[in-house]
Amino acid sequence: MASSQASVFGLKDSSLIRFQGLIDGKWVDAKDGAKIVVKNPATNEELGTVPEMGLAETKEAISAAAKAFPAWSTTTGKERHDILMKLFALMQEHHDDLGRLITLENGKTLTEGKGENAYTEEAVRTYGEQIPSPFKNVRNVVIKQPVGTSSIMTPWNFPSAMITRKLGAALAAGCTTVIKPPPETPFSALALAELAARAGVPDGVINIVTTEKNVSEVGKEMCESKAVKKVTFTGSTPVAKMLASMASSTLKKISLEAGGNAPFIVFDDADMDEAVAAAIICKFRGSGQTCVCANRIFVHSSVYAEFASRLAEKVSAFKVGNGLDESTTHGPLIHKRATEKVSRHVEDAISQGAQVLVGGKVIENSNFFQPTVLSDVPAGALINTEETFGPLAALVKFETEEEVVRLANSTEVGLAGYFFSRDVGRVWRVAEKLEVGMVGVNTGLISQAVIPFGGVKESGLGREGGPHGIDEYMNEKLIVFGGL
Ligand code: SIN
Repeated sequence: MASSQASVFGLKDSSLIRFQGLIDGKWVDAKDGAKIVVKNPATNEELGTVPEMGLAETKEAISAAAKAFPAWSTTTGKERHDILMKLFALMQEHHDDLGRLITLENGKTLTEGKGENAYTEEAVRTYGEQIPSPFKNVRNVVIKQPVGTSSIMTPWNFPSAMITRKLGAALAAGCTTVIKPPPETPFSALALAELAARAGVPDGVINIVTTEKNVSEVGKEMCESKAVKKVTFTGSTPVAKMLASMASSTLKKISLEAGGNAPFIVFDDADMDEAVAAAIICKFRGSGQTCVCANRIFVHSSVYAEFASRLAEKVSAFKVGNGLDESTTHGPLIHKRATEKVSRHVEDAISQGAQVLVGGKVIENSNFFQPTVLSDVPAGALINTEETFGPLAALVKFETEEEVVRLANSTEVGLAGYFFSRDVGRVWRVAEKLEVGMVGVNTGLISQAVIPFGGVKESGLGREGGPHGIDEYMNEKLIVFGGL
């Protein structure tokens, strides 16, 4: 049954497809046998099912992770490094299959799906420090220790990369994990767990609980259980706030990467070729479904007409379709709710005077939305206050640096911001003034495994990636040596 189901995916190694959750090294169904149906957003065809797990399975997963912690946390950094590097090598070996899996369950193109699997790197250089003491016979040393069992909750827009970004750091630090992948894209998470087992990650170190309807009780337990010492989440700001308040009941360490509403500013001295090319990648990557996608595009009035027509020309050449088709440049949105939100933003902007330069409509009876460029979007439009999460470029005209910085910062969230200028003074001024965690100067693509990824304001807490990311899974311990 499972192997015939797996053939639907067309992978070279069909044993990467797992239809069960993972607890303590065993692939398991939900206790009551309930299942979640997972669909391909490009075709709406069923891909397969995974278990609809609940509180009981979550408790078991947490206790398996807690049981595995003493042994895993006392392996050496070198031992964990070797296992993680083996996992990375396996991911590279199965690059095509993992990319295809992402395209099948998320819809993004094969190039983007495969790109997610190169988005991984490990750091086990968890150095401590020695702090000189003002007292003669005293020495201060700070060491870093893994926090413990970590709850990891991830979104569907990067089915693999948002897991590896958290899991790589957690495992490298010596933590054990319970992962709740999103119901839309569980198969990539399960394939990673299968590869982790092949790489030698011991039983109980990675546990996976799949759920959709029971998400509230599963999430609550993952945040409130006393056995869990760390909660990490990527997703919307309202959910991040709810999880933070639940995790605060036991003052757990938390890192949250929540929503963005990125400004993308084109000043009058910008290199126009580069600004247009960057706006394309920044706005339309993943069909606009990334937290760091440009959401509000501010263009100086003196270059507005040129930028708008060049952007519109490029966007009208996109080929929207099934991500498995090599000629597709942009895939579908994840589900109907996503296309409805984009429609709402387009209609609202038009009702306030915006002009449609390209697109503007959902492709009927599908999850595809026409890549869209709107000009003359007024400051009061919904798109300026809410993250669209879709292929909609909304152009707003501005006159002065002061005005555009004020507009860019007039949002509750602050994940990423981008701007184009060749004036070195302005580059420093604006980079410092933007209220965001990450700034792209003359680039529309900032994401890399090695950078501290994260936001300010209501975009979250903590950083992921590189050496900063691993610190989120470690406690610092001070050891004071006296009587020397
Ligand atoms: C995200 O959308 O949450 C992550 C985007 C990225 O890593 O580029």
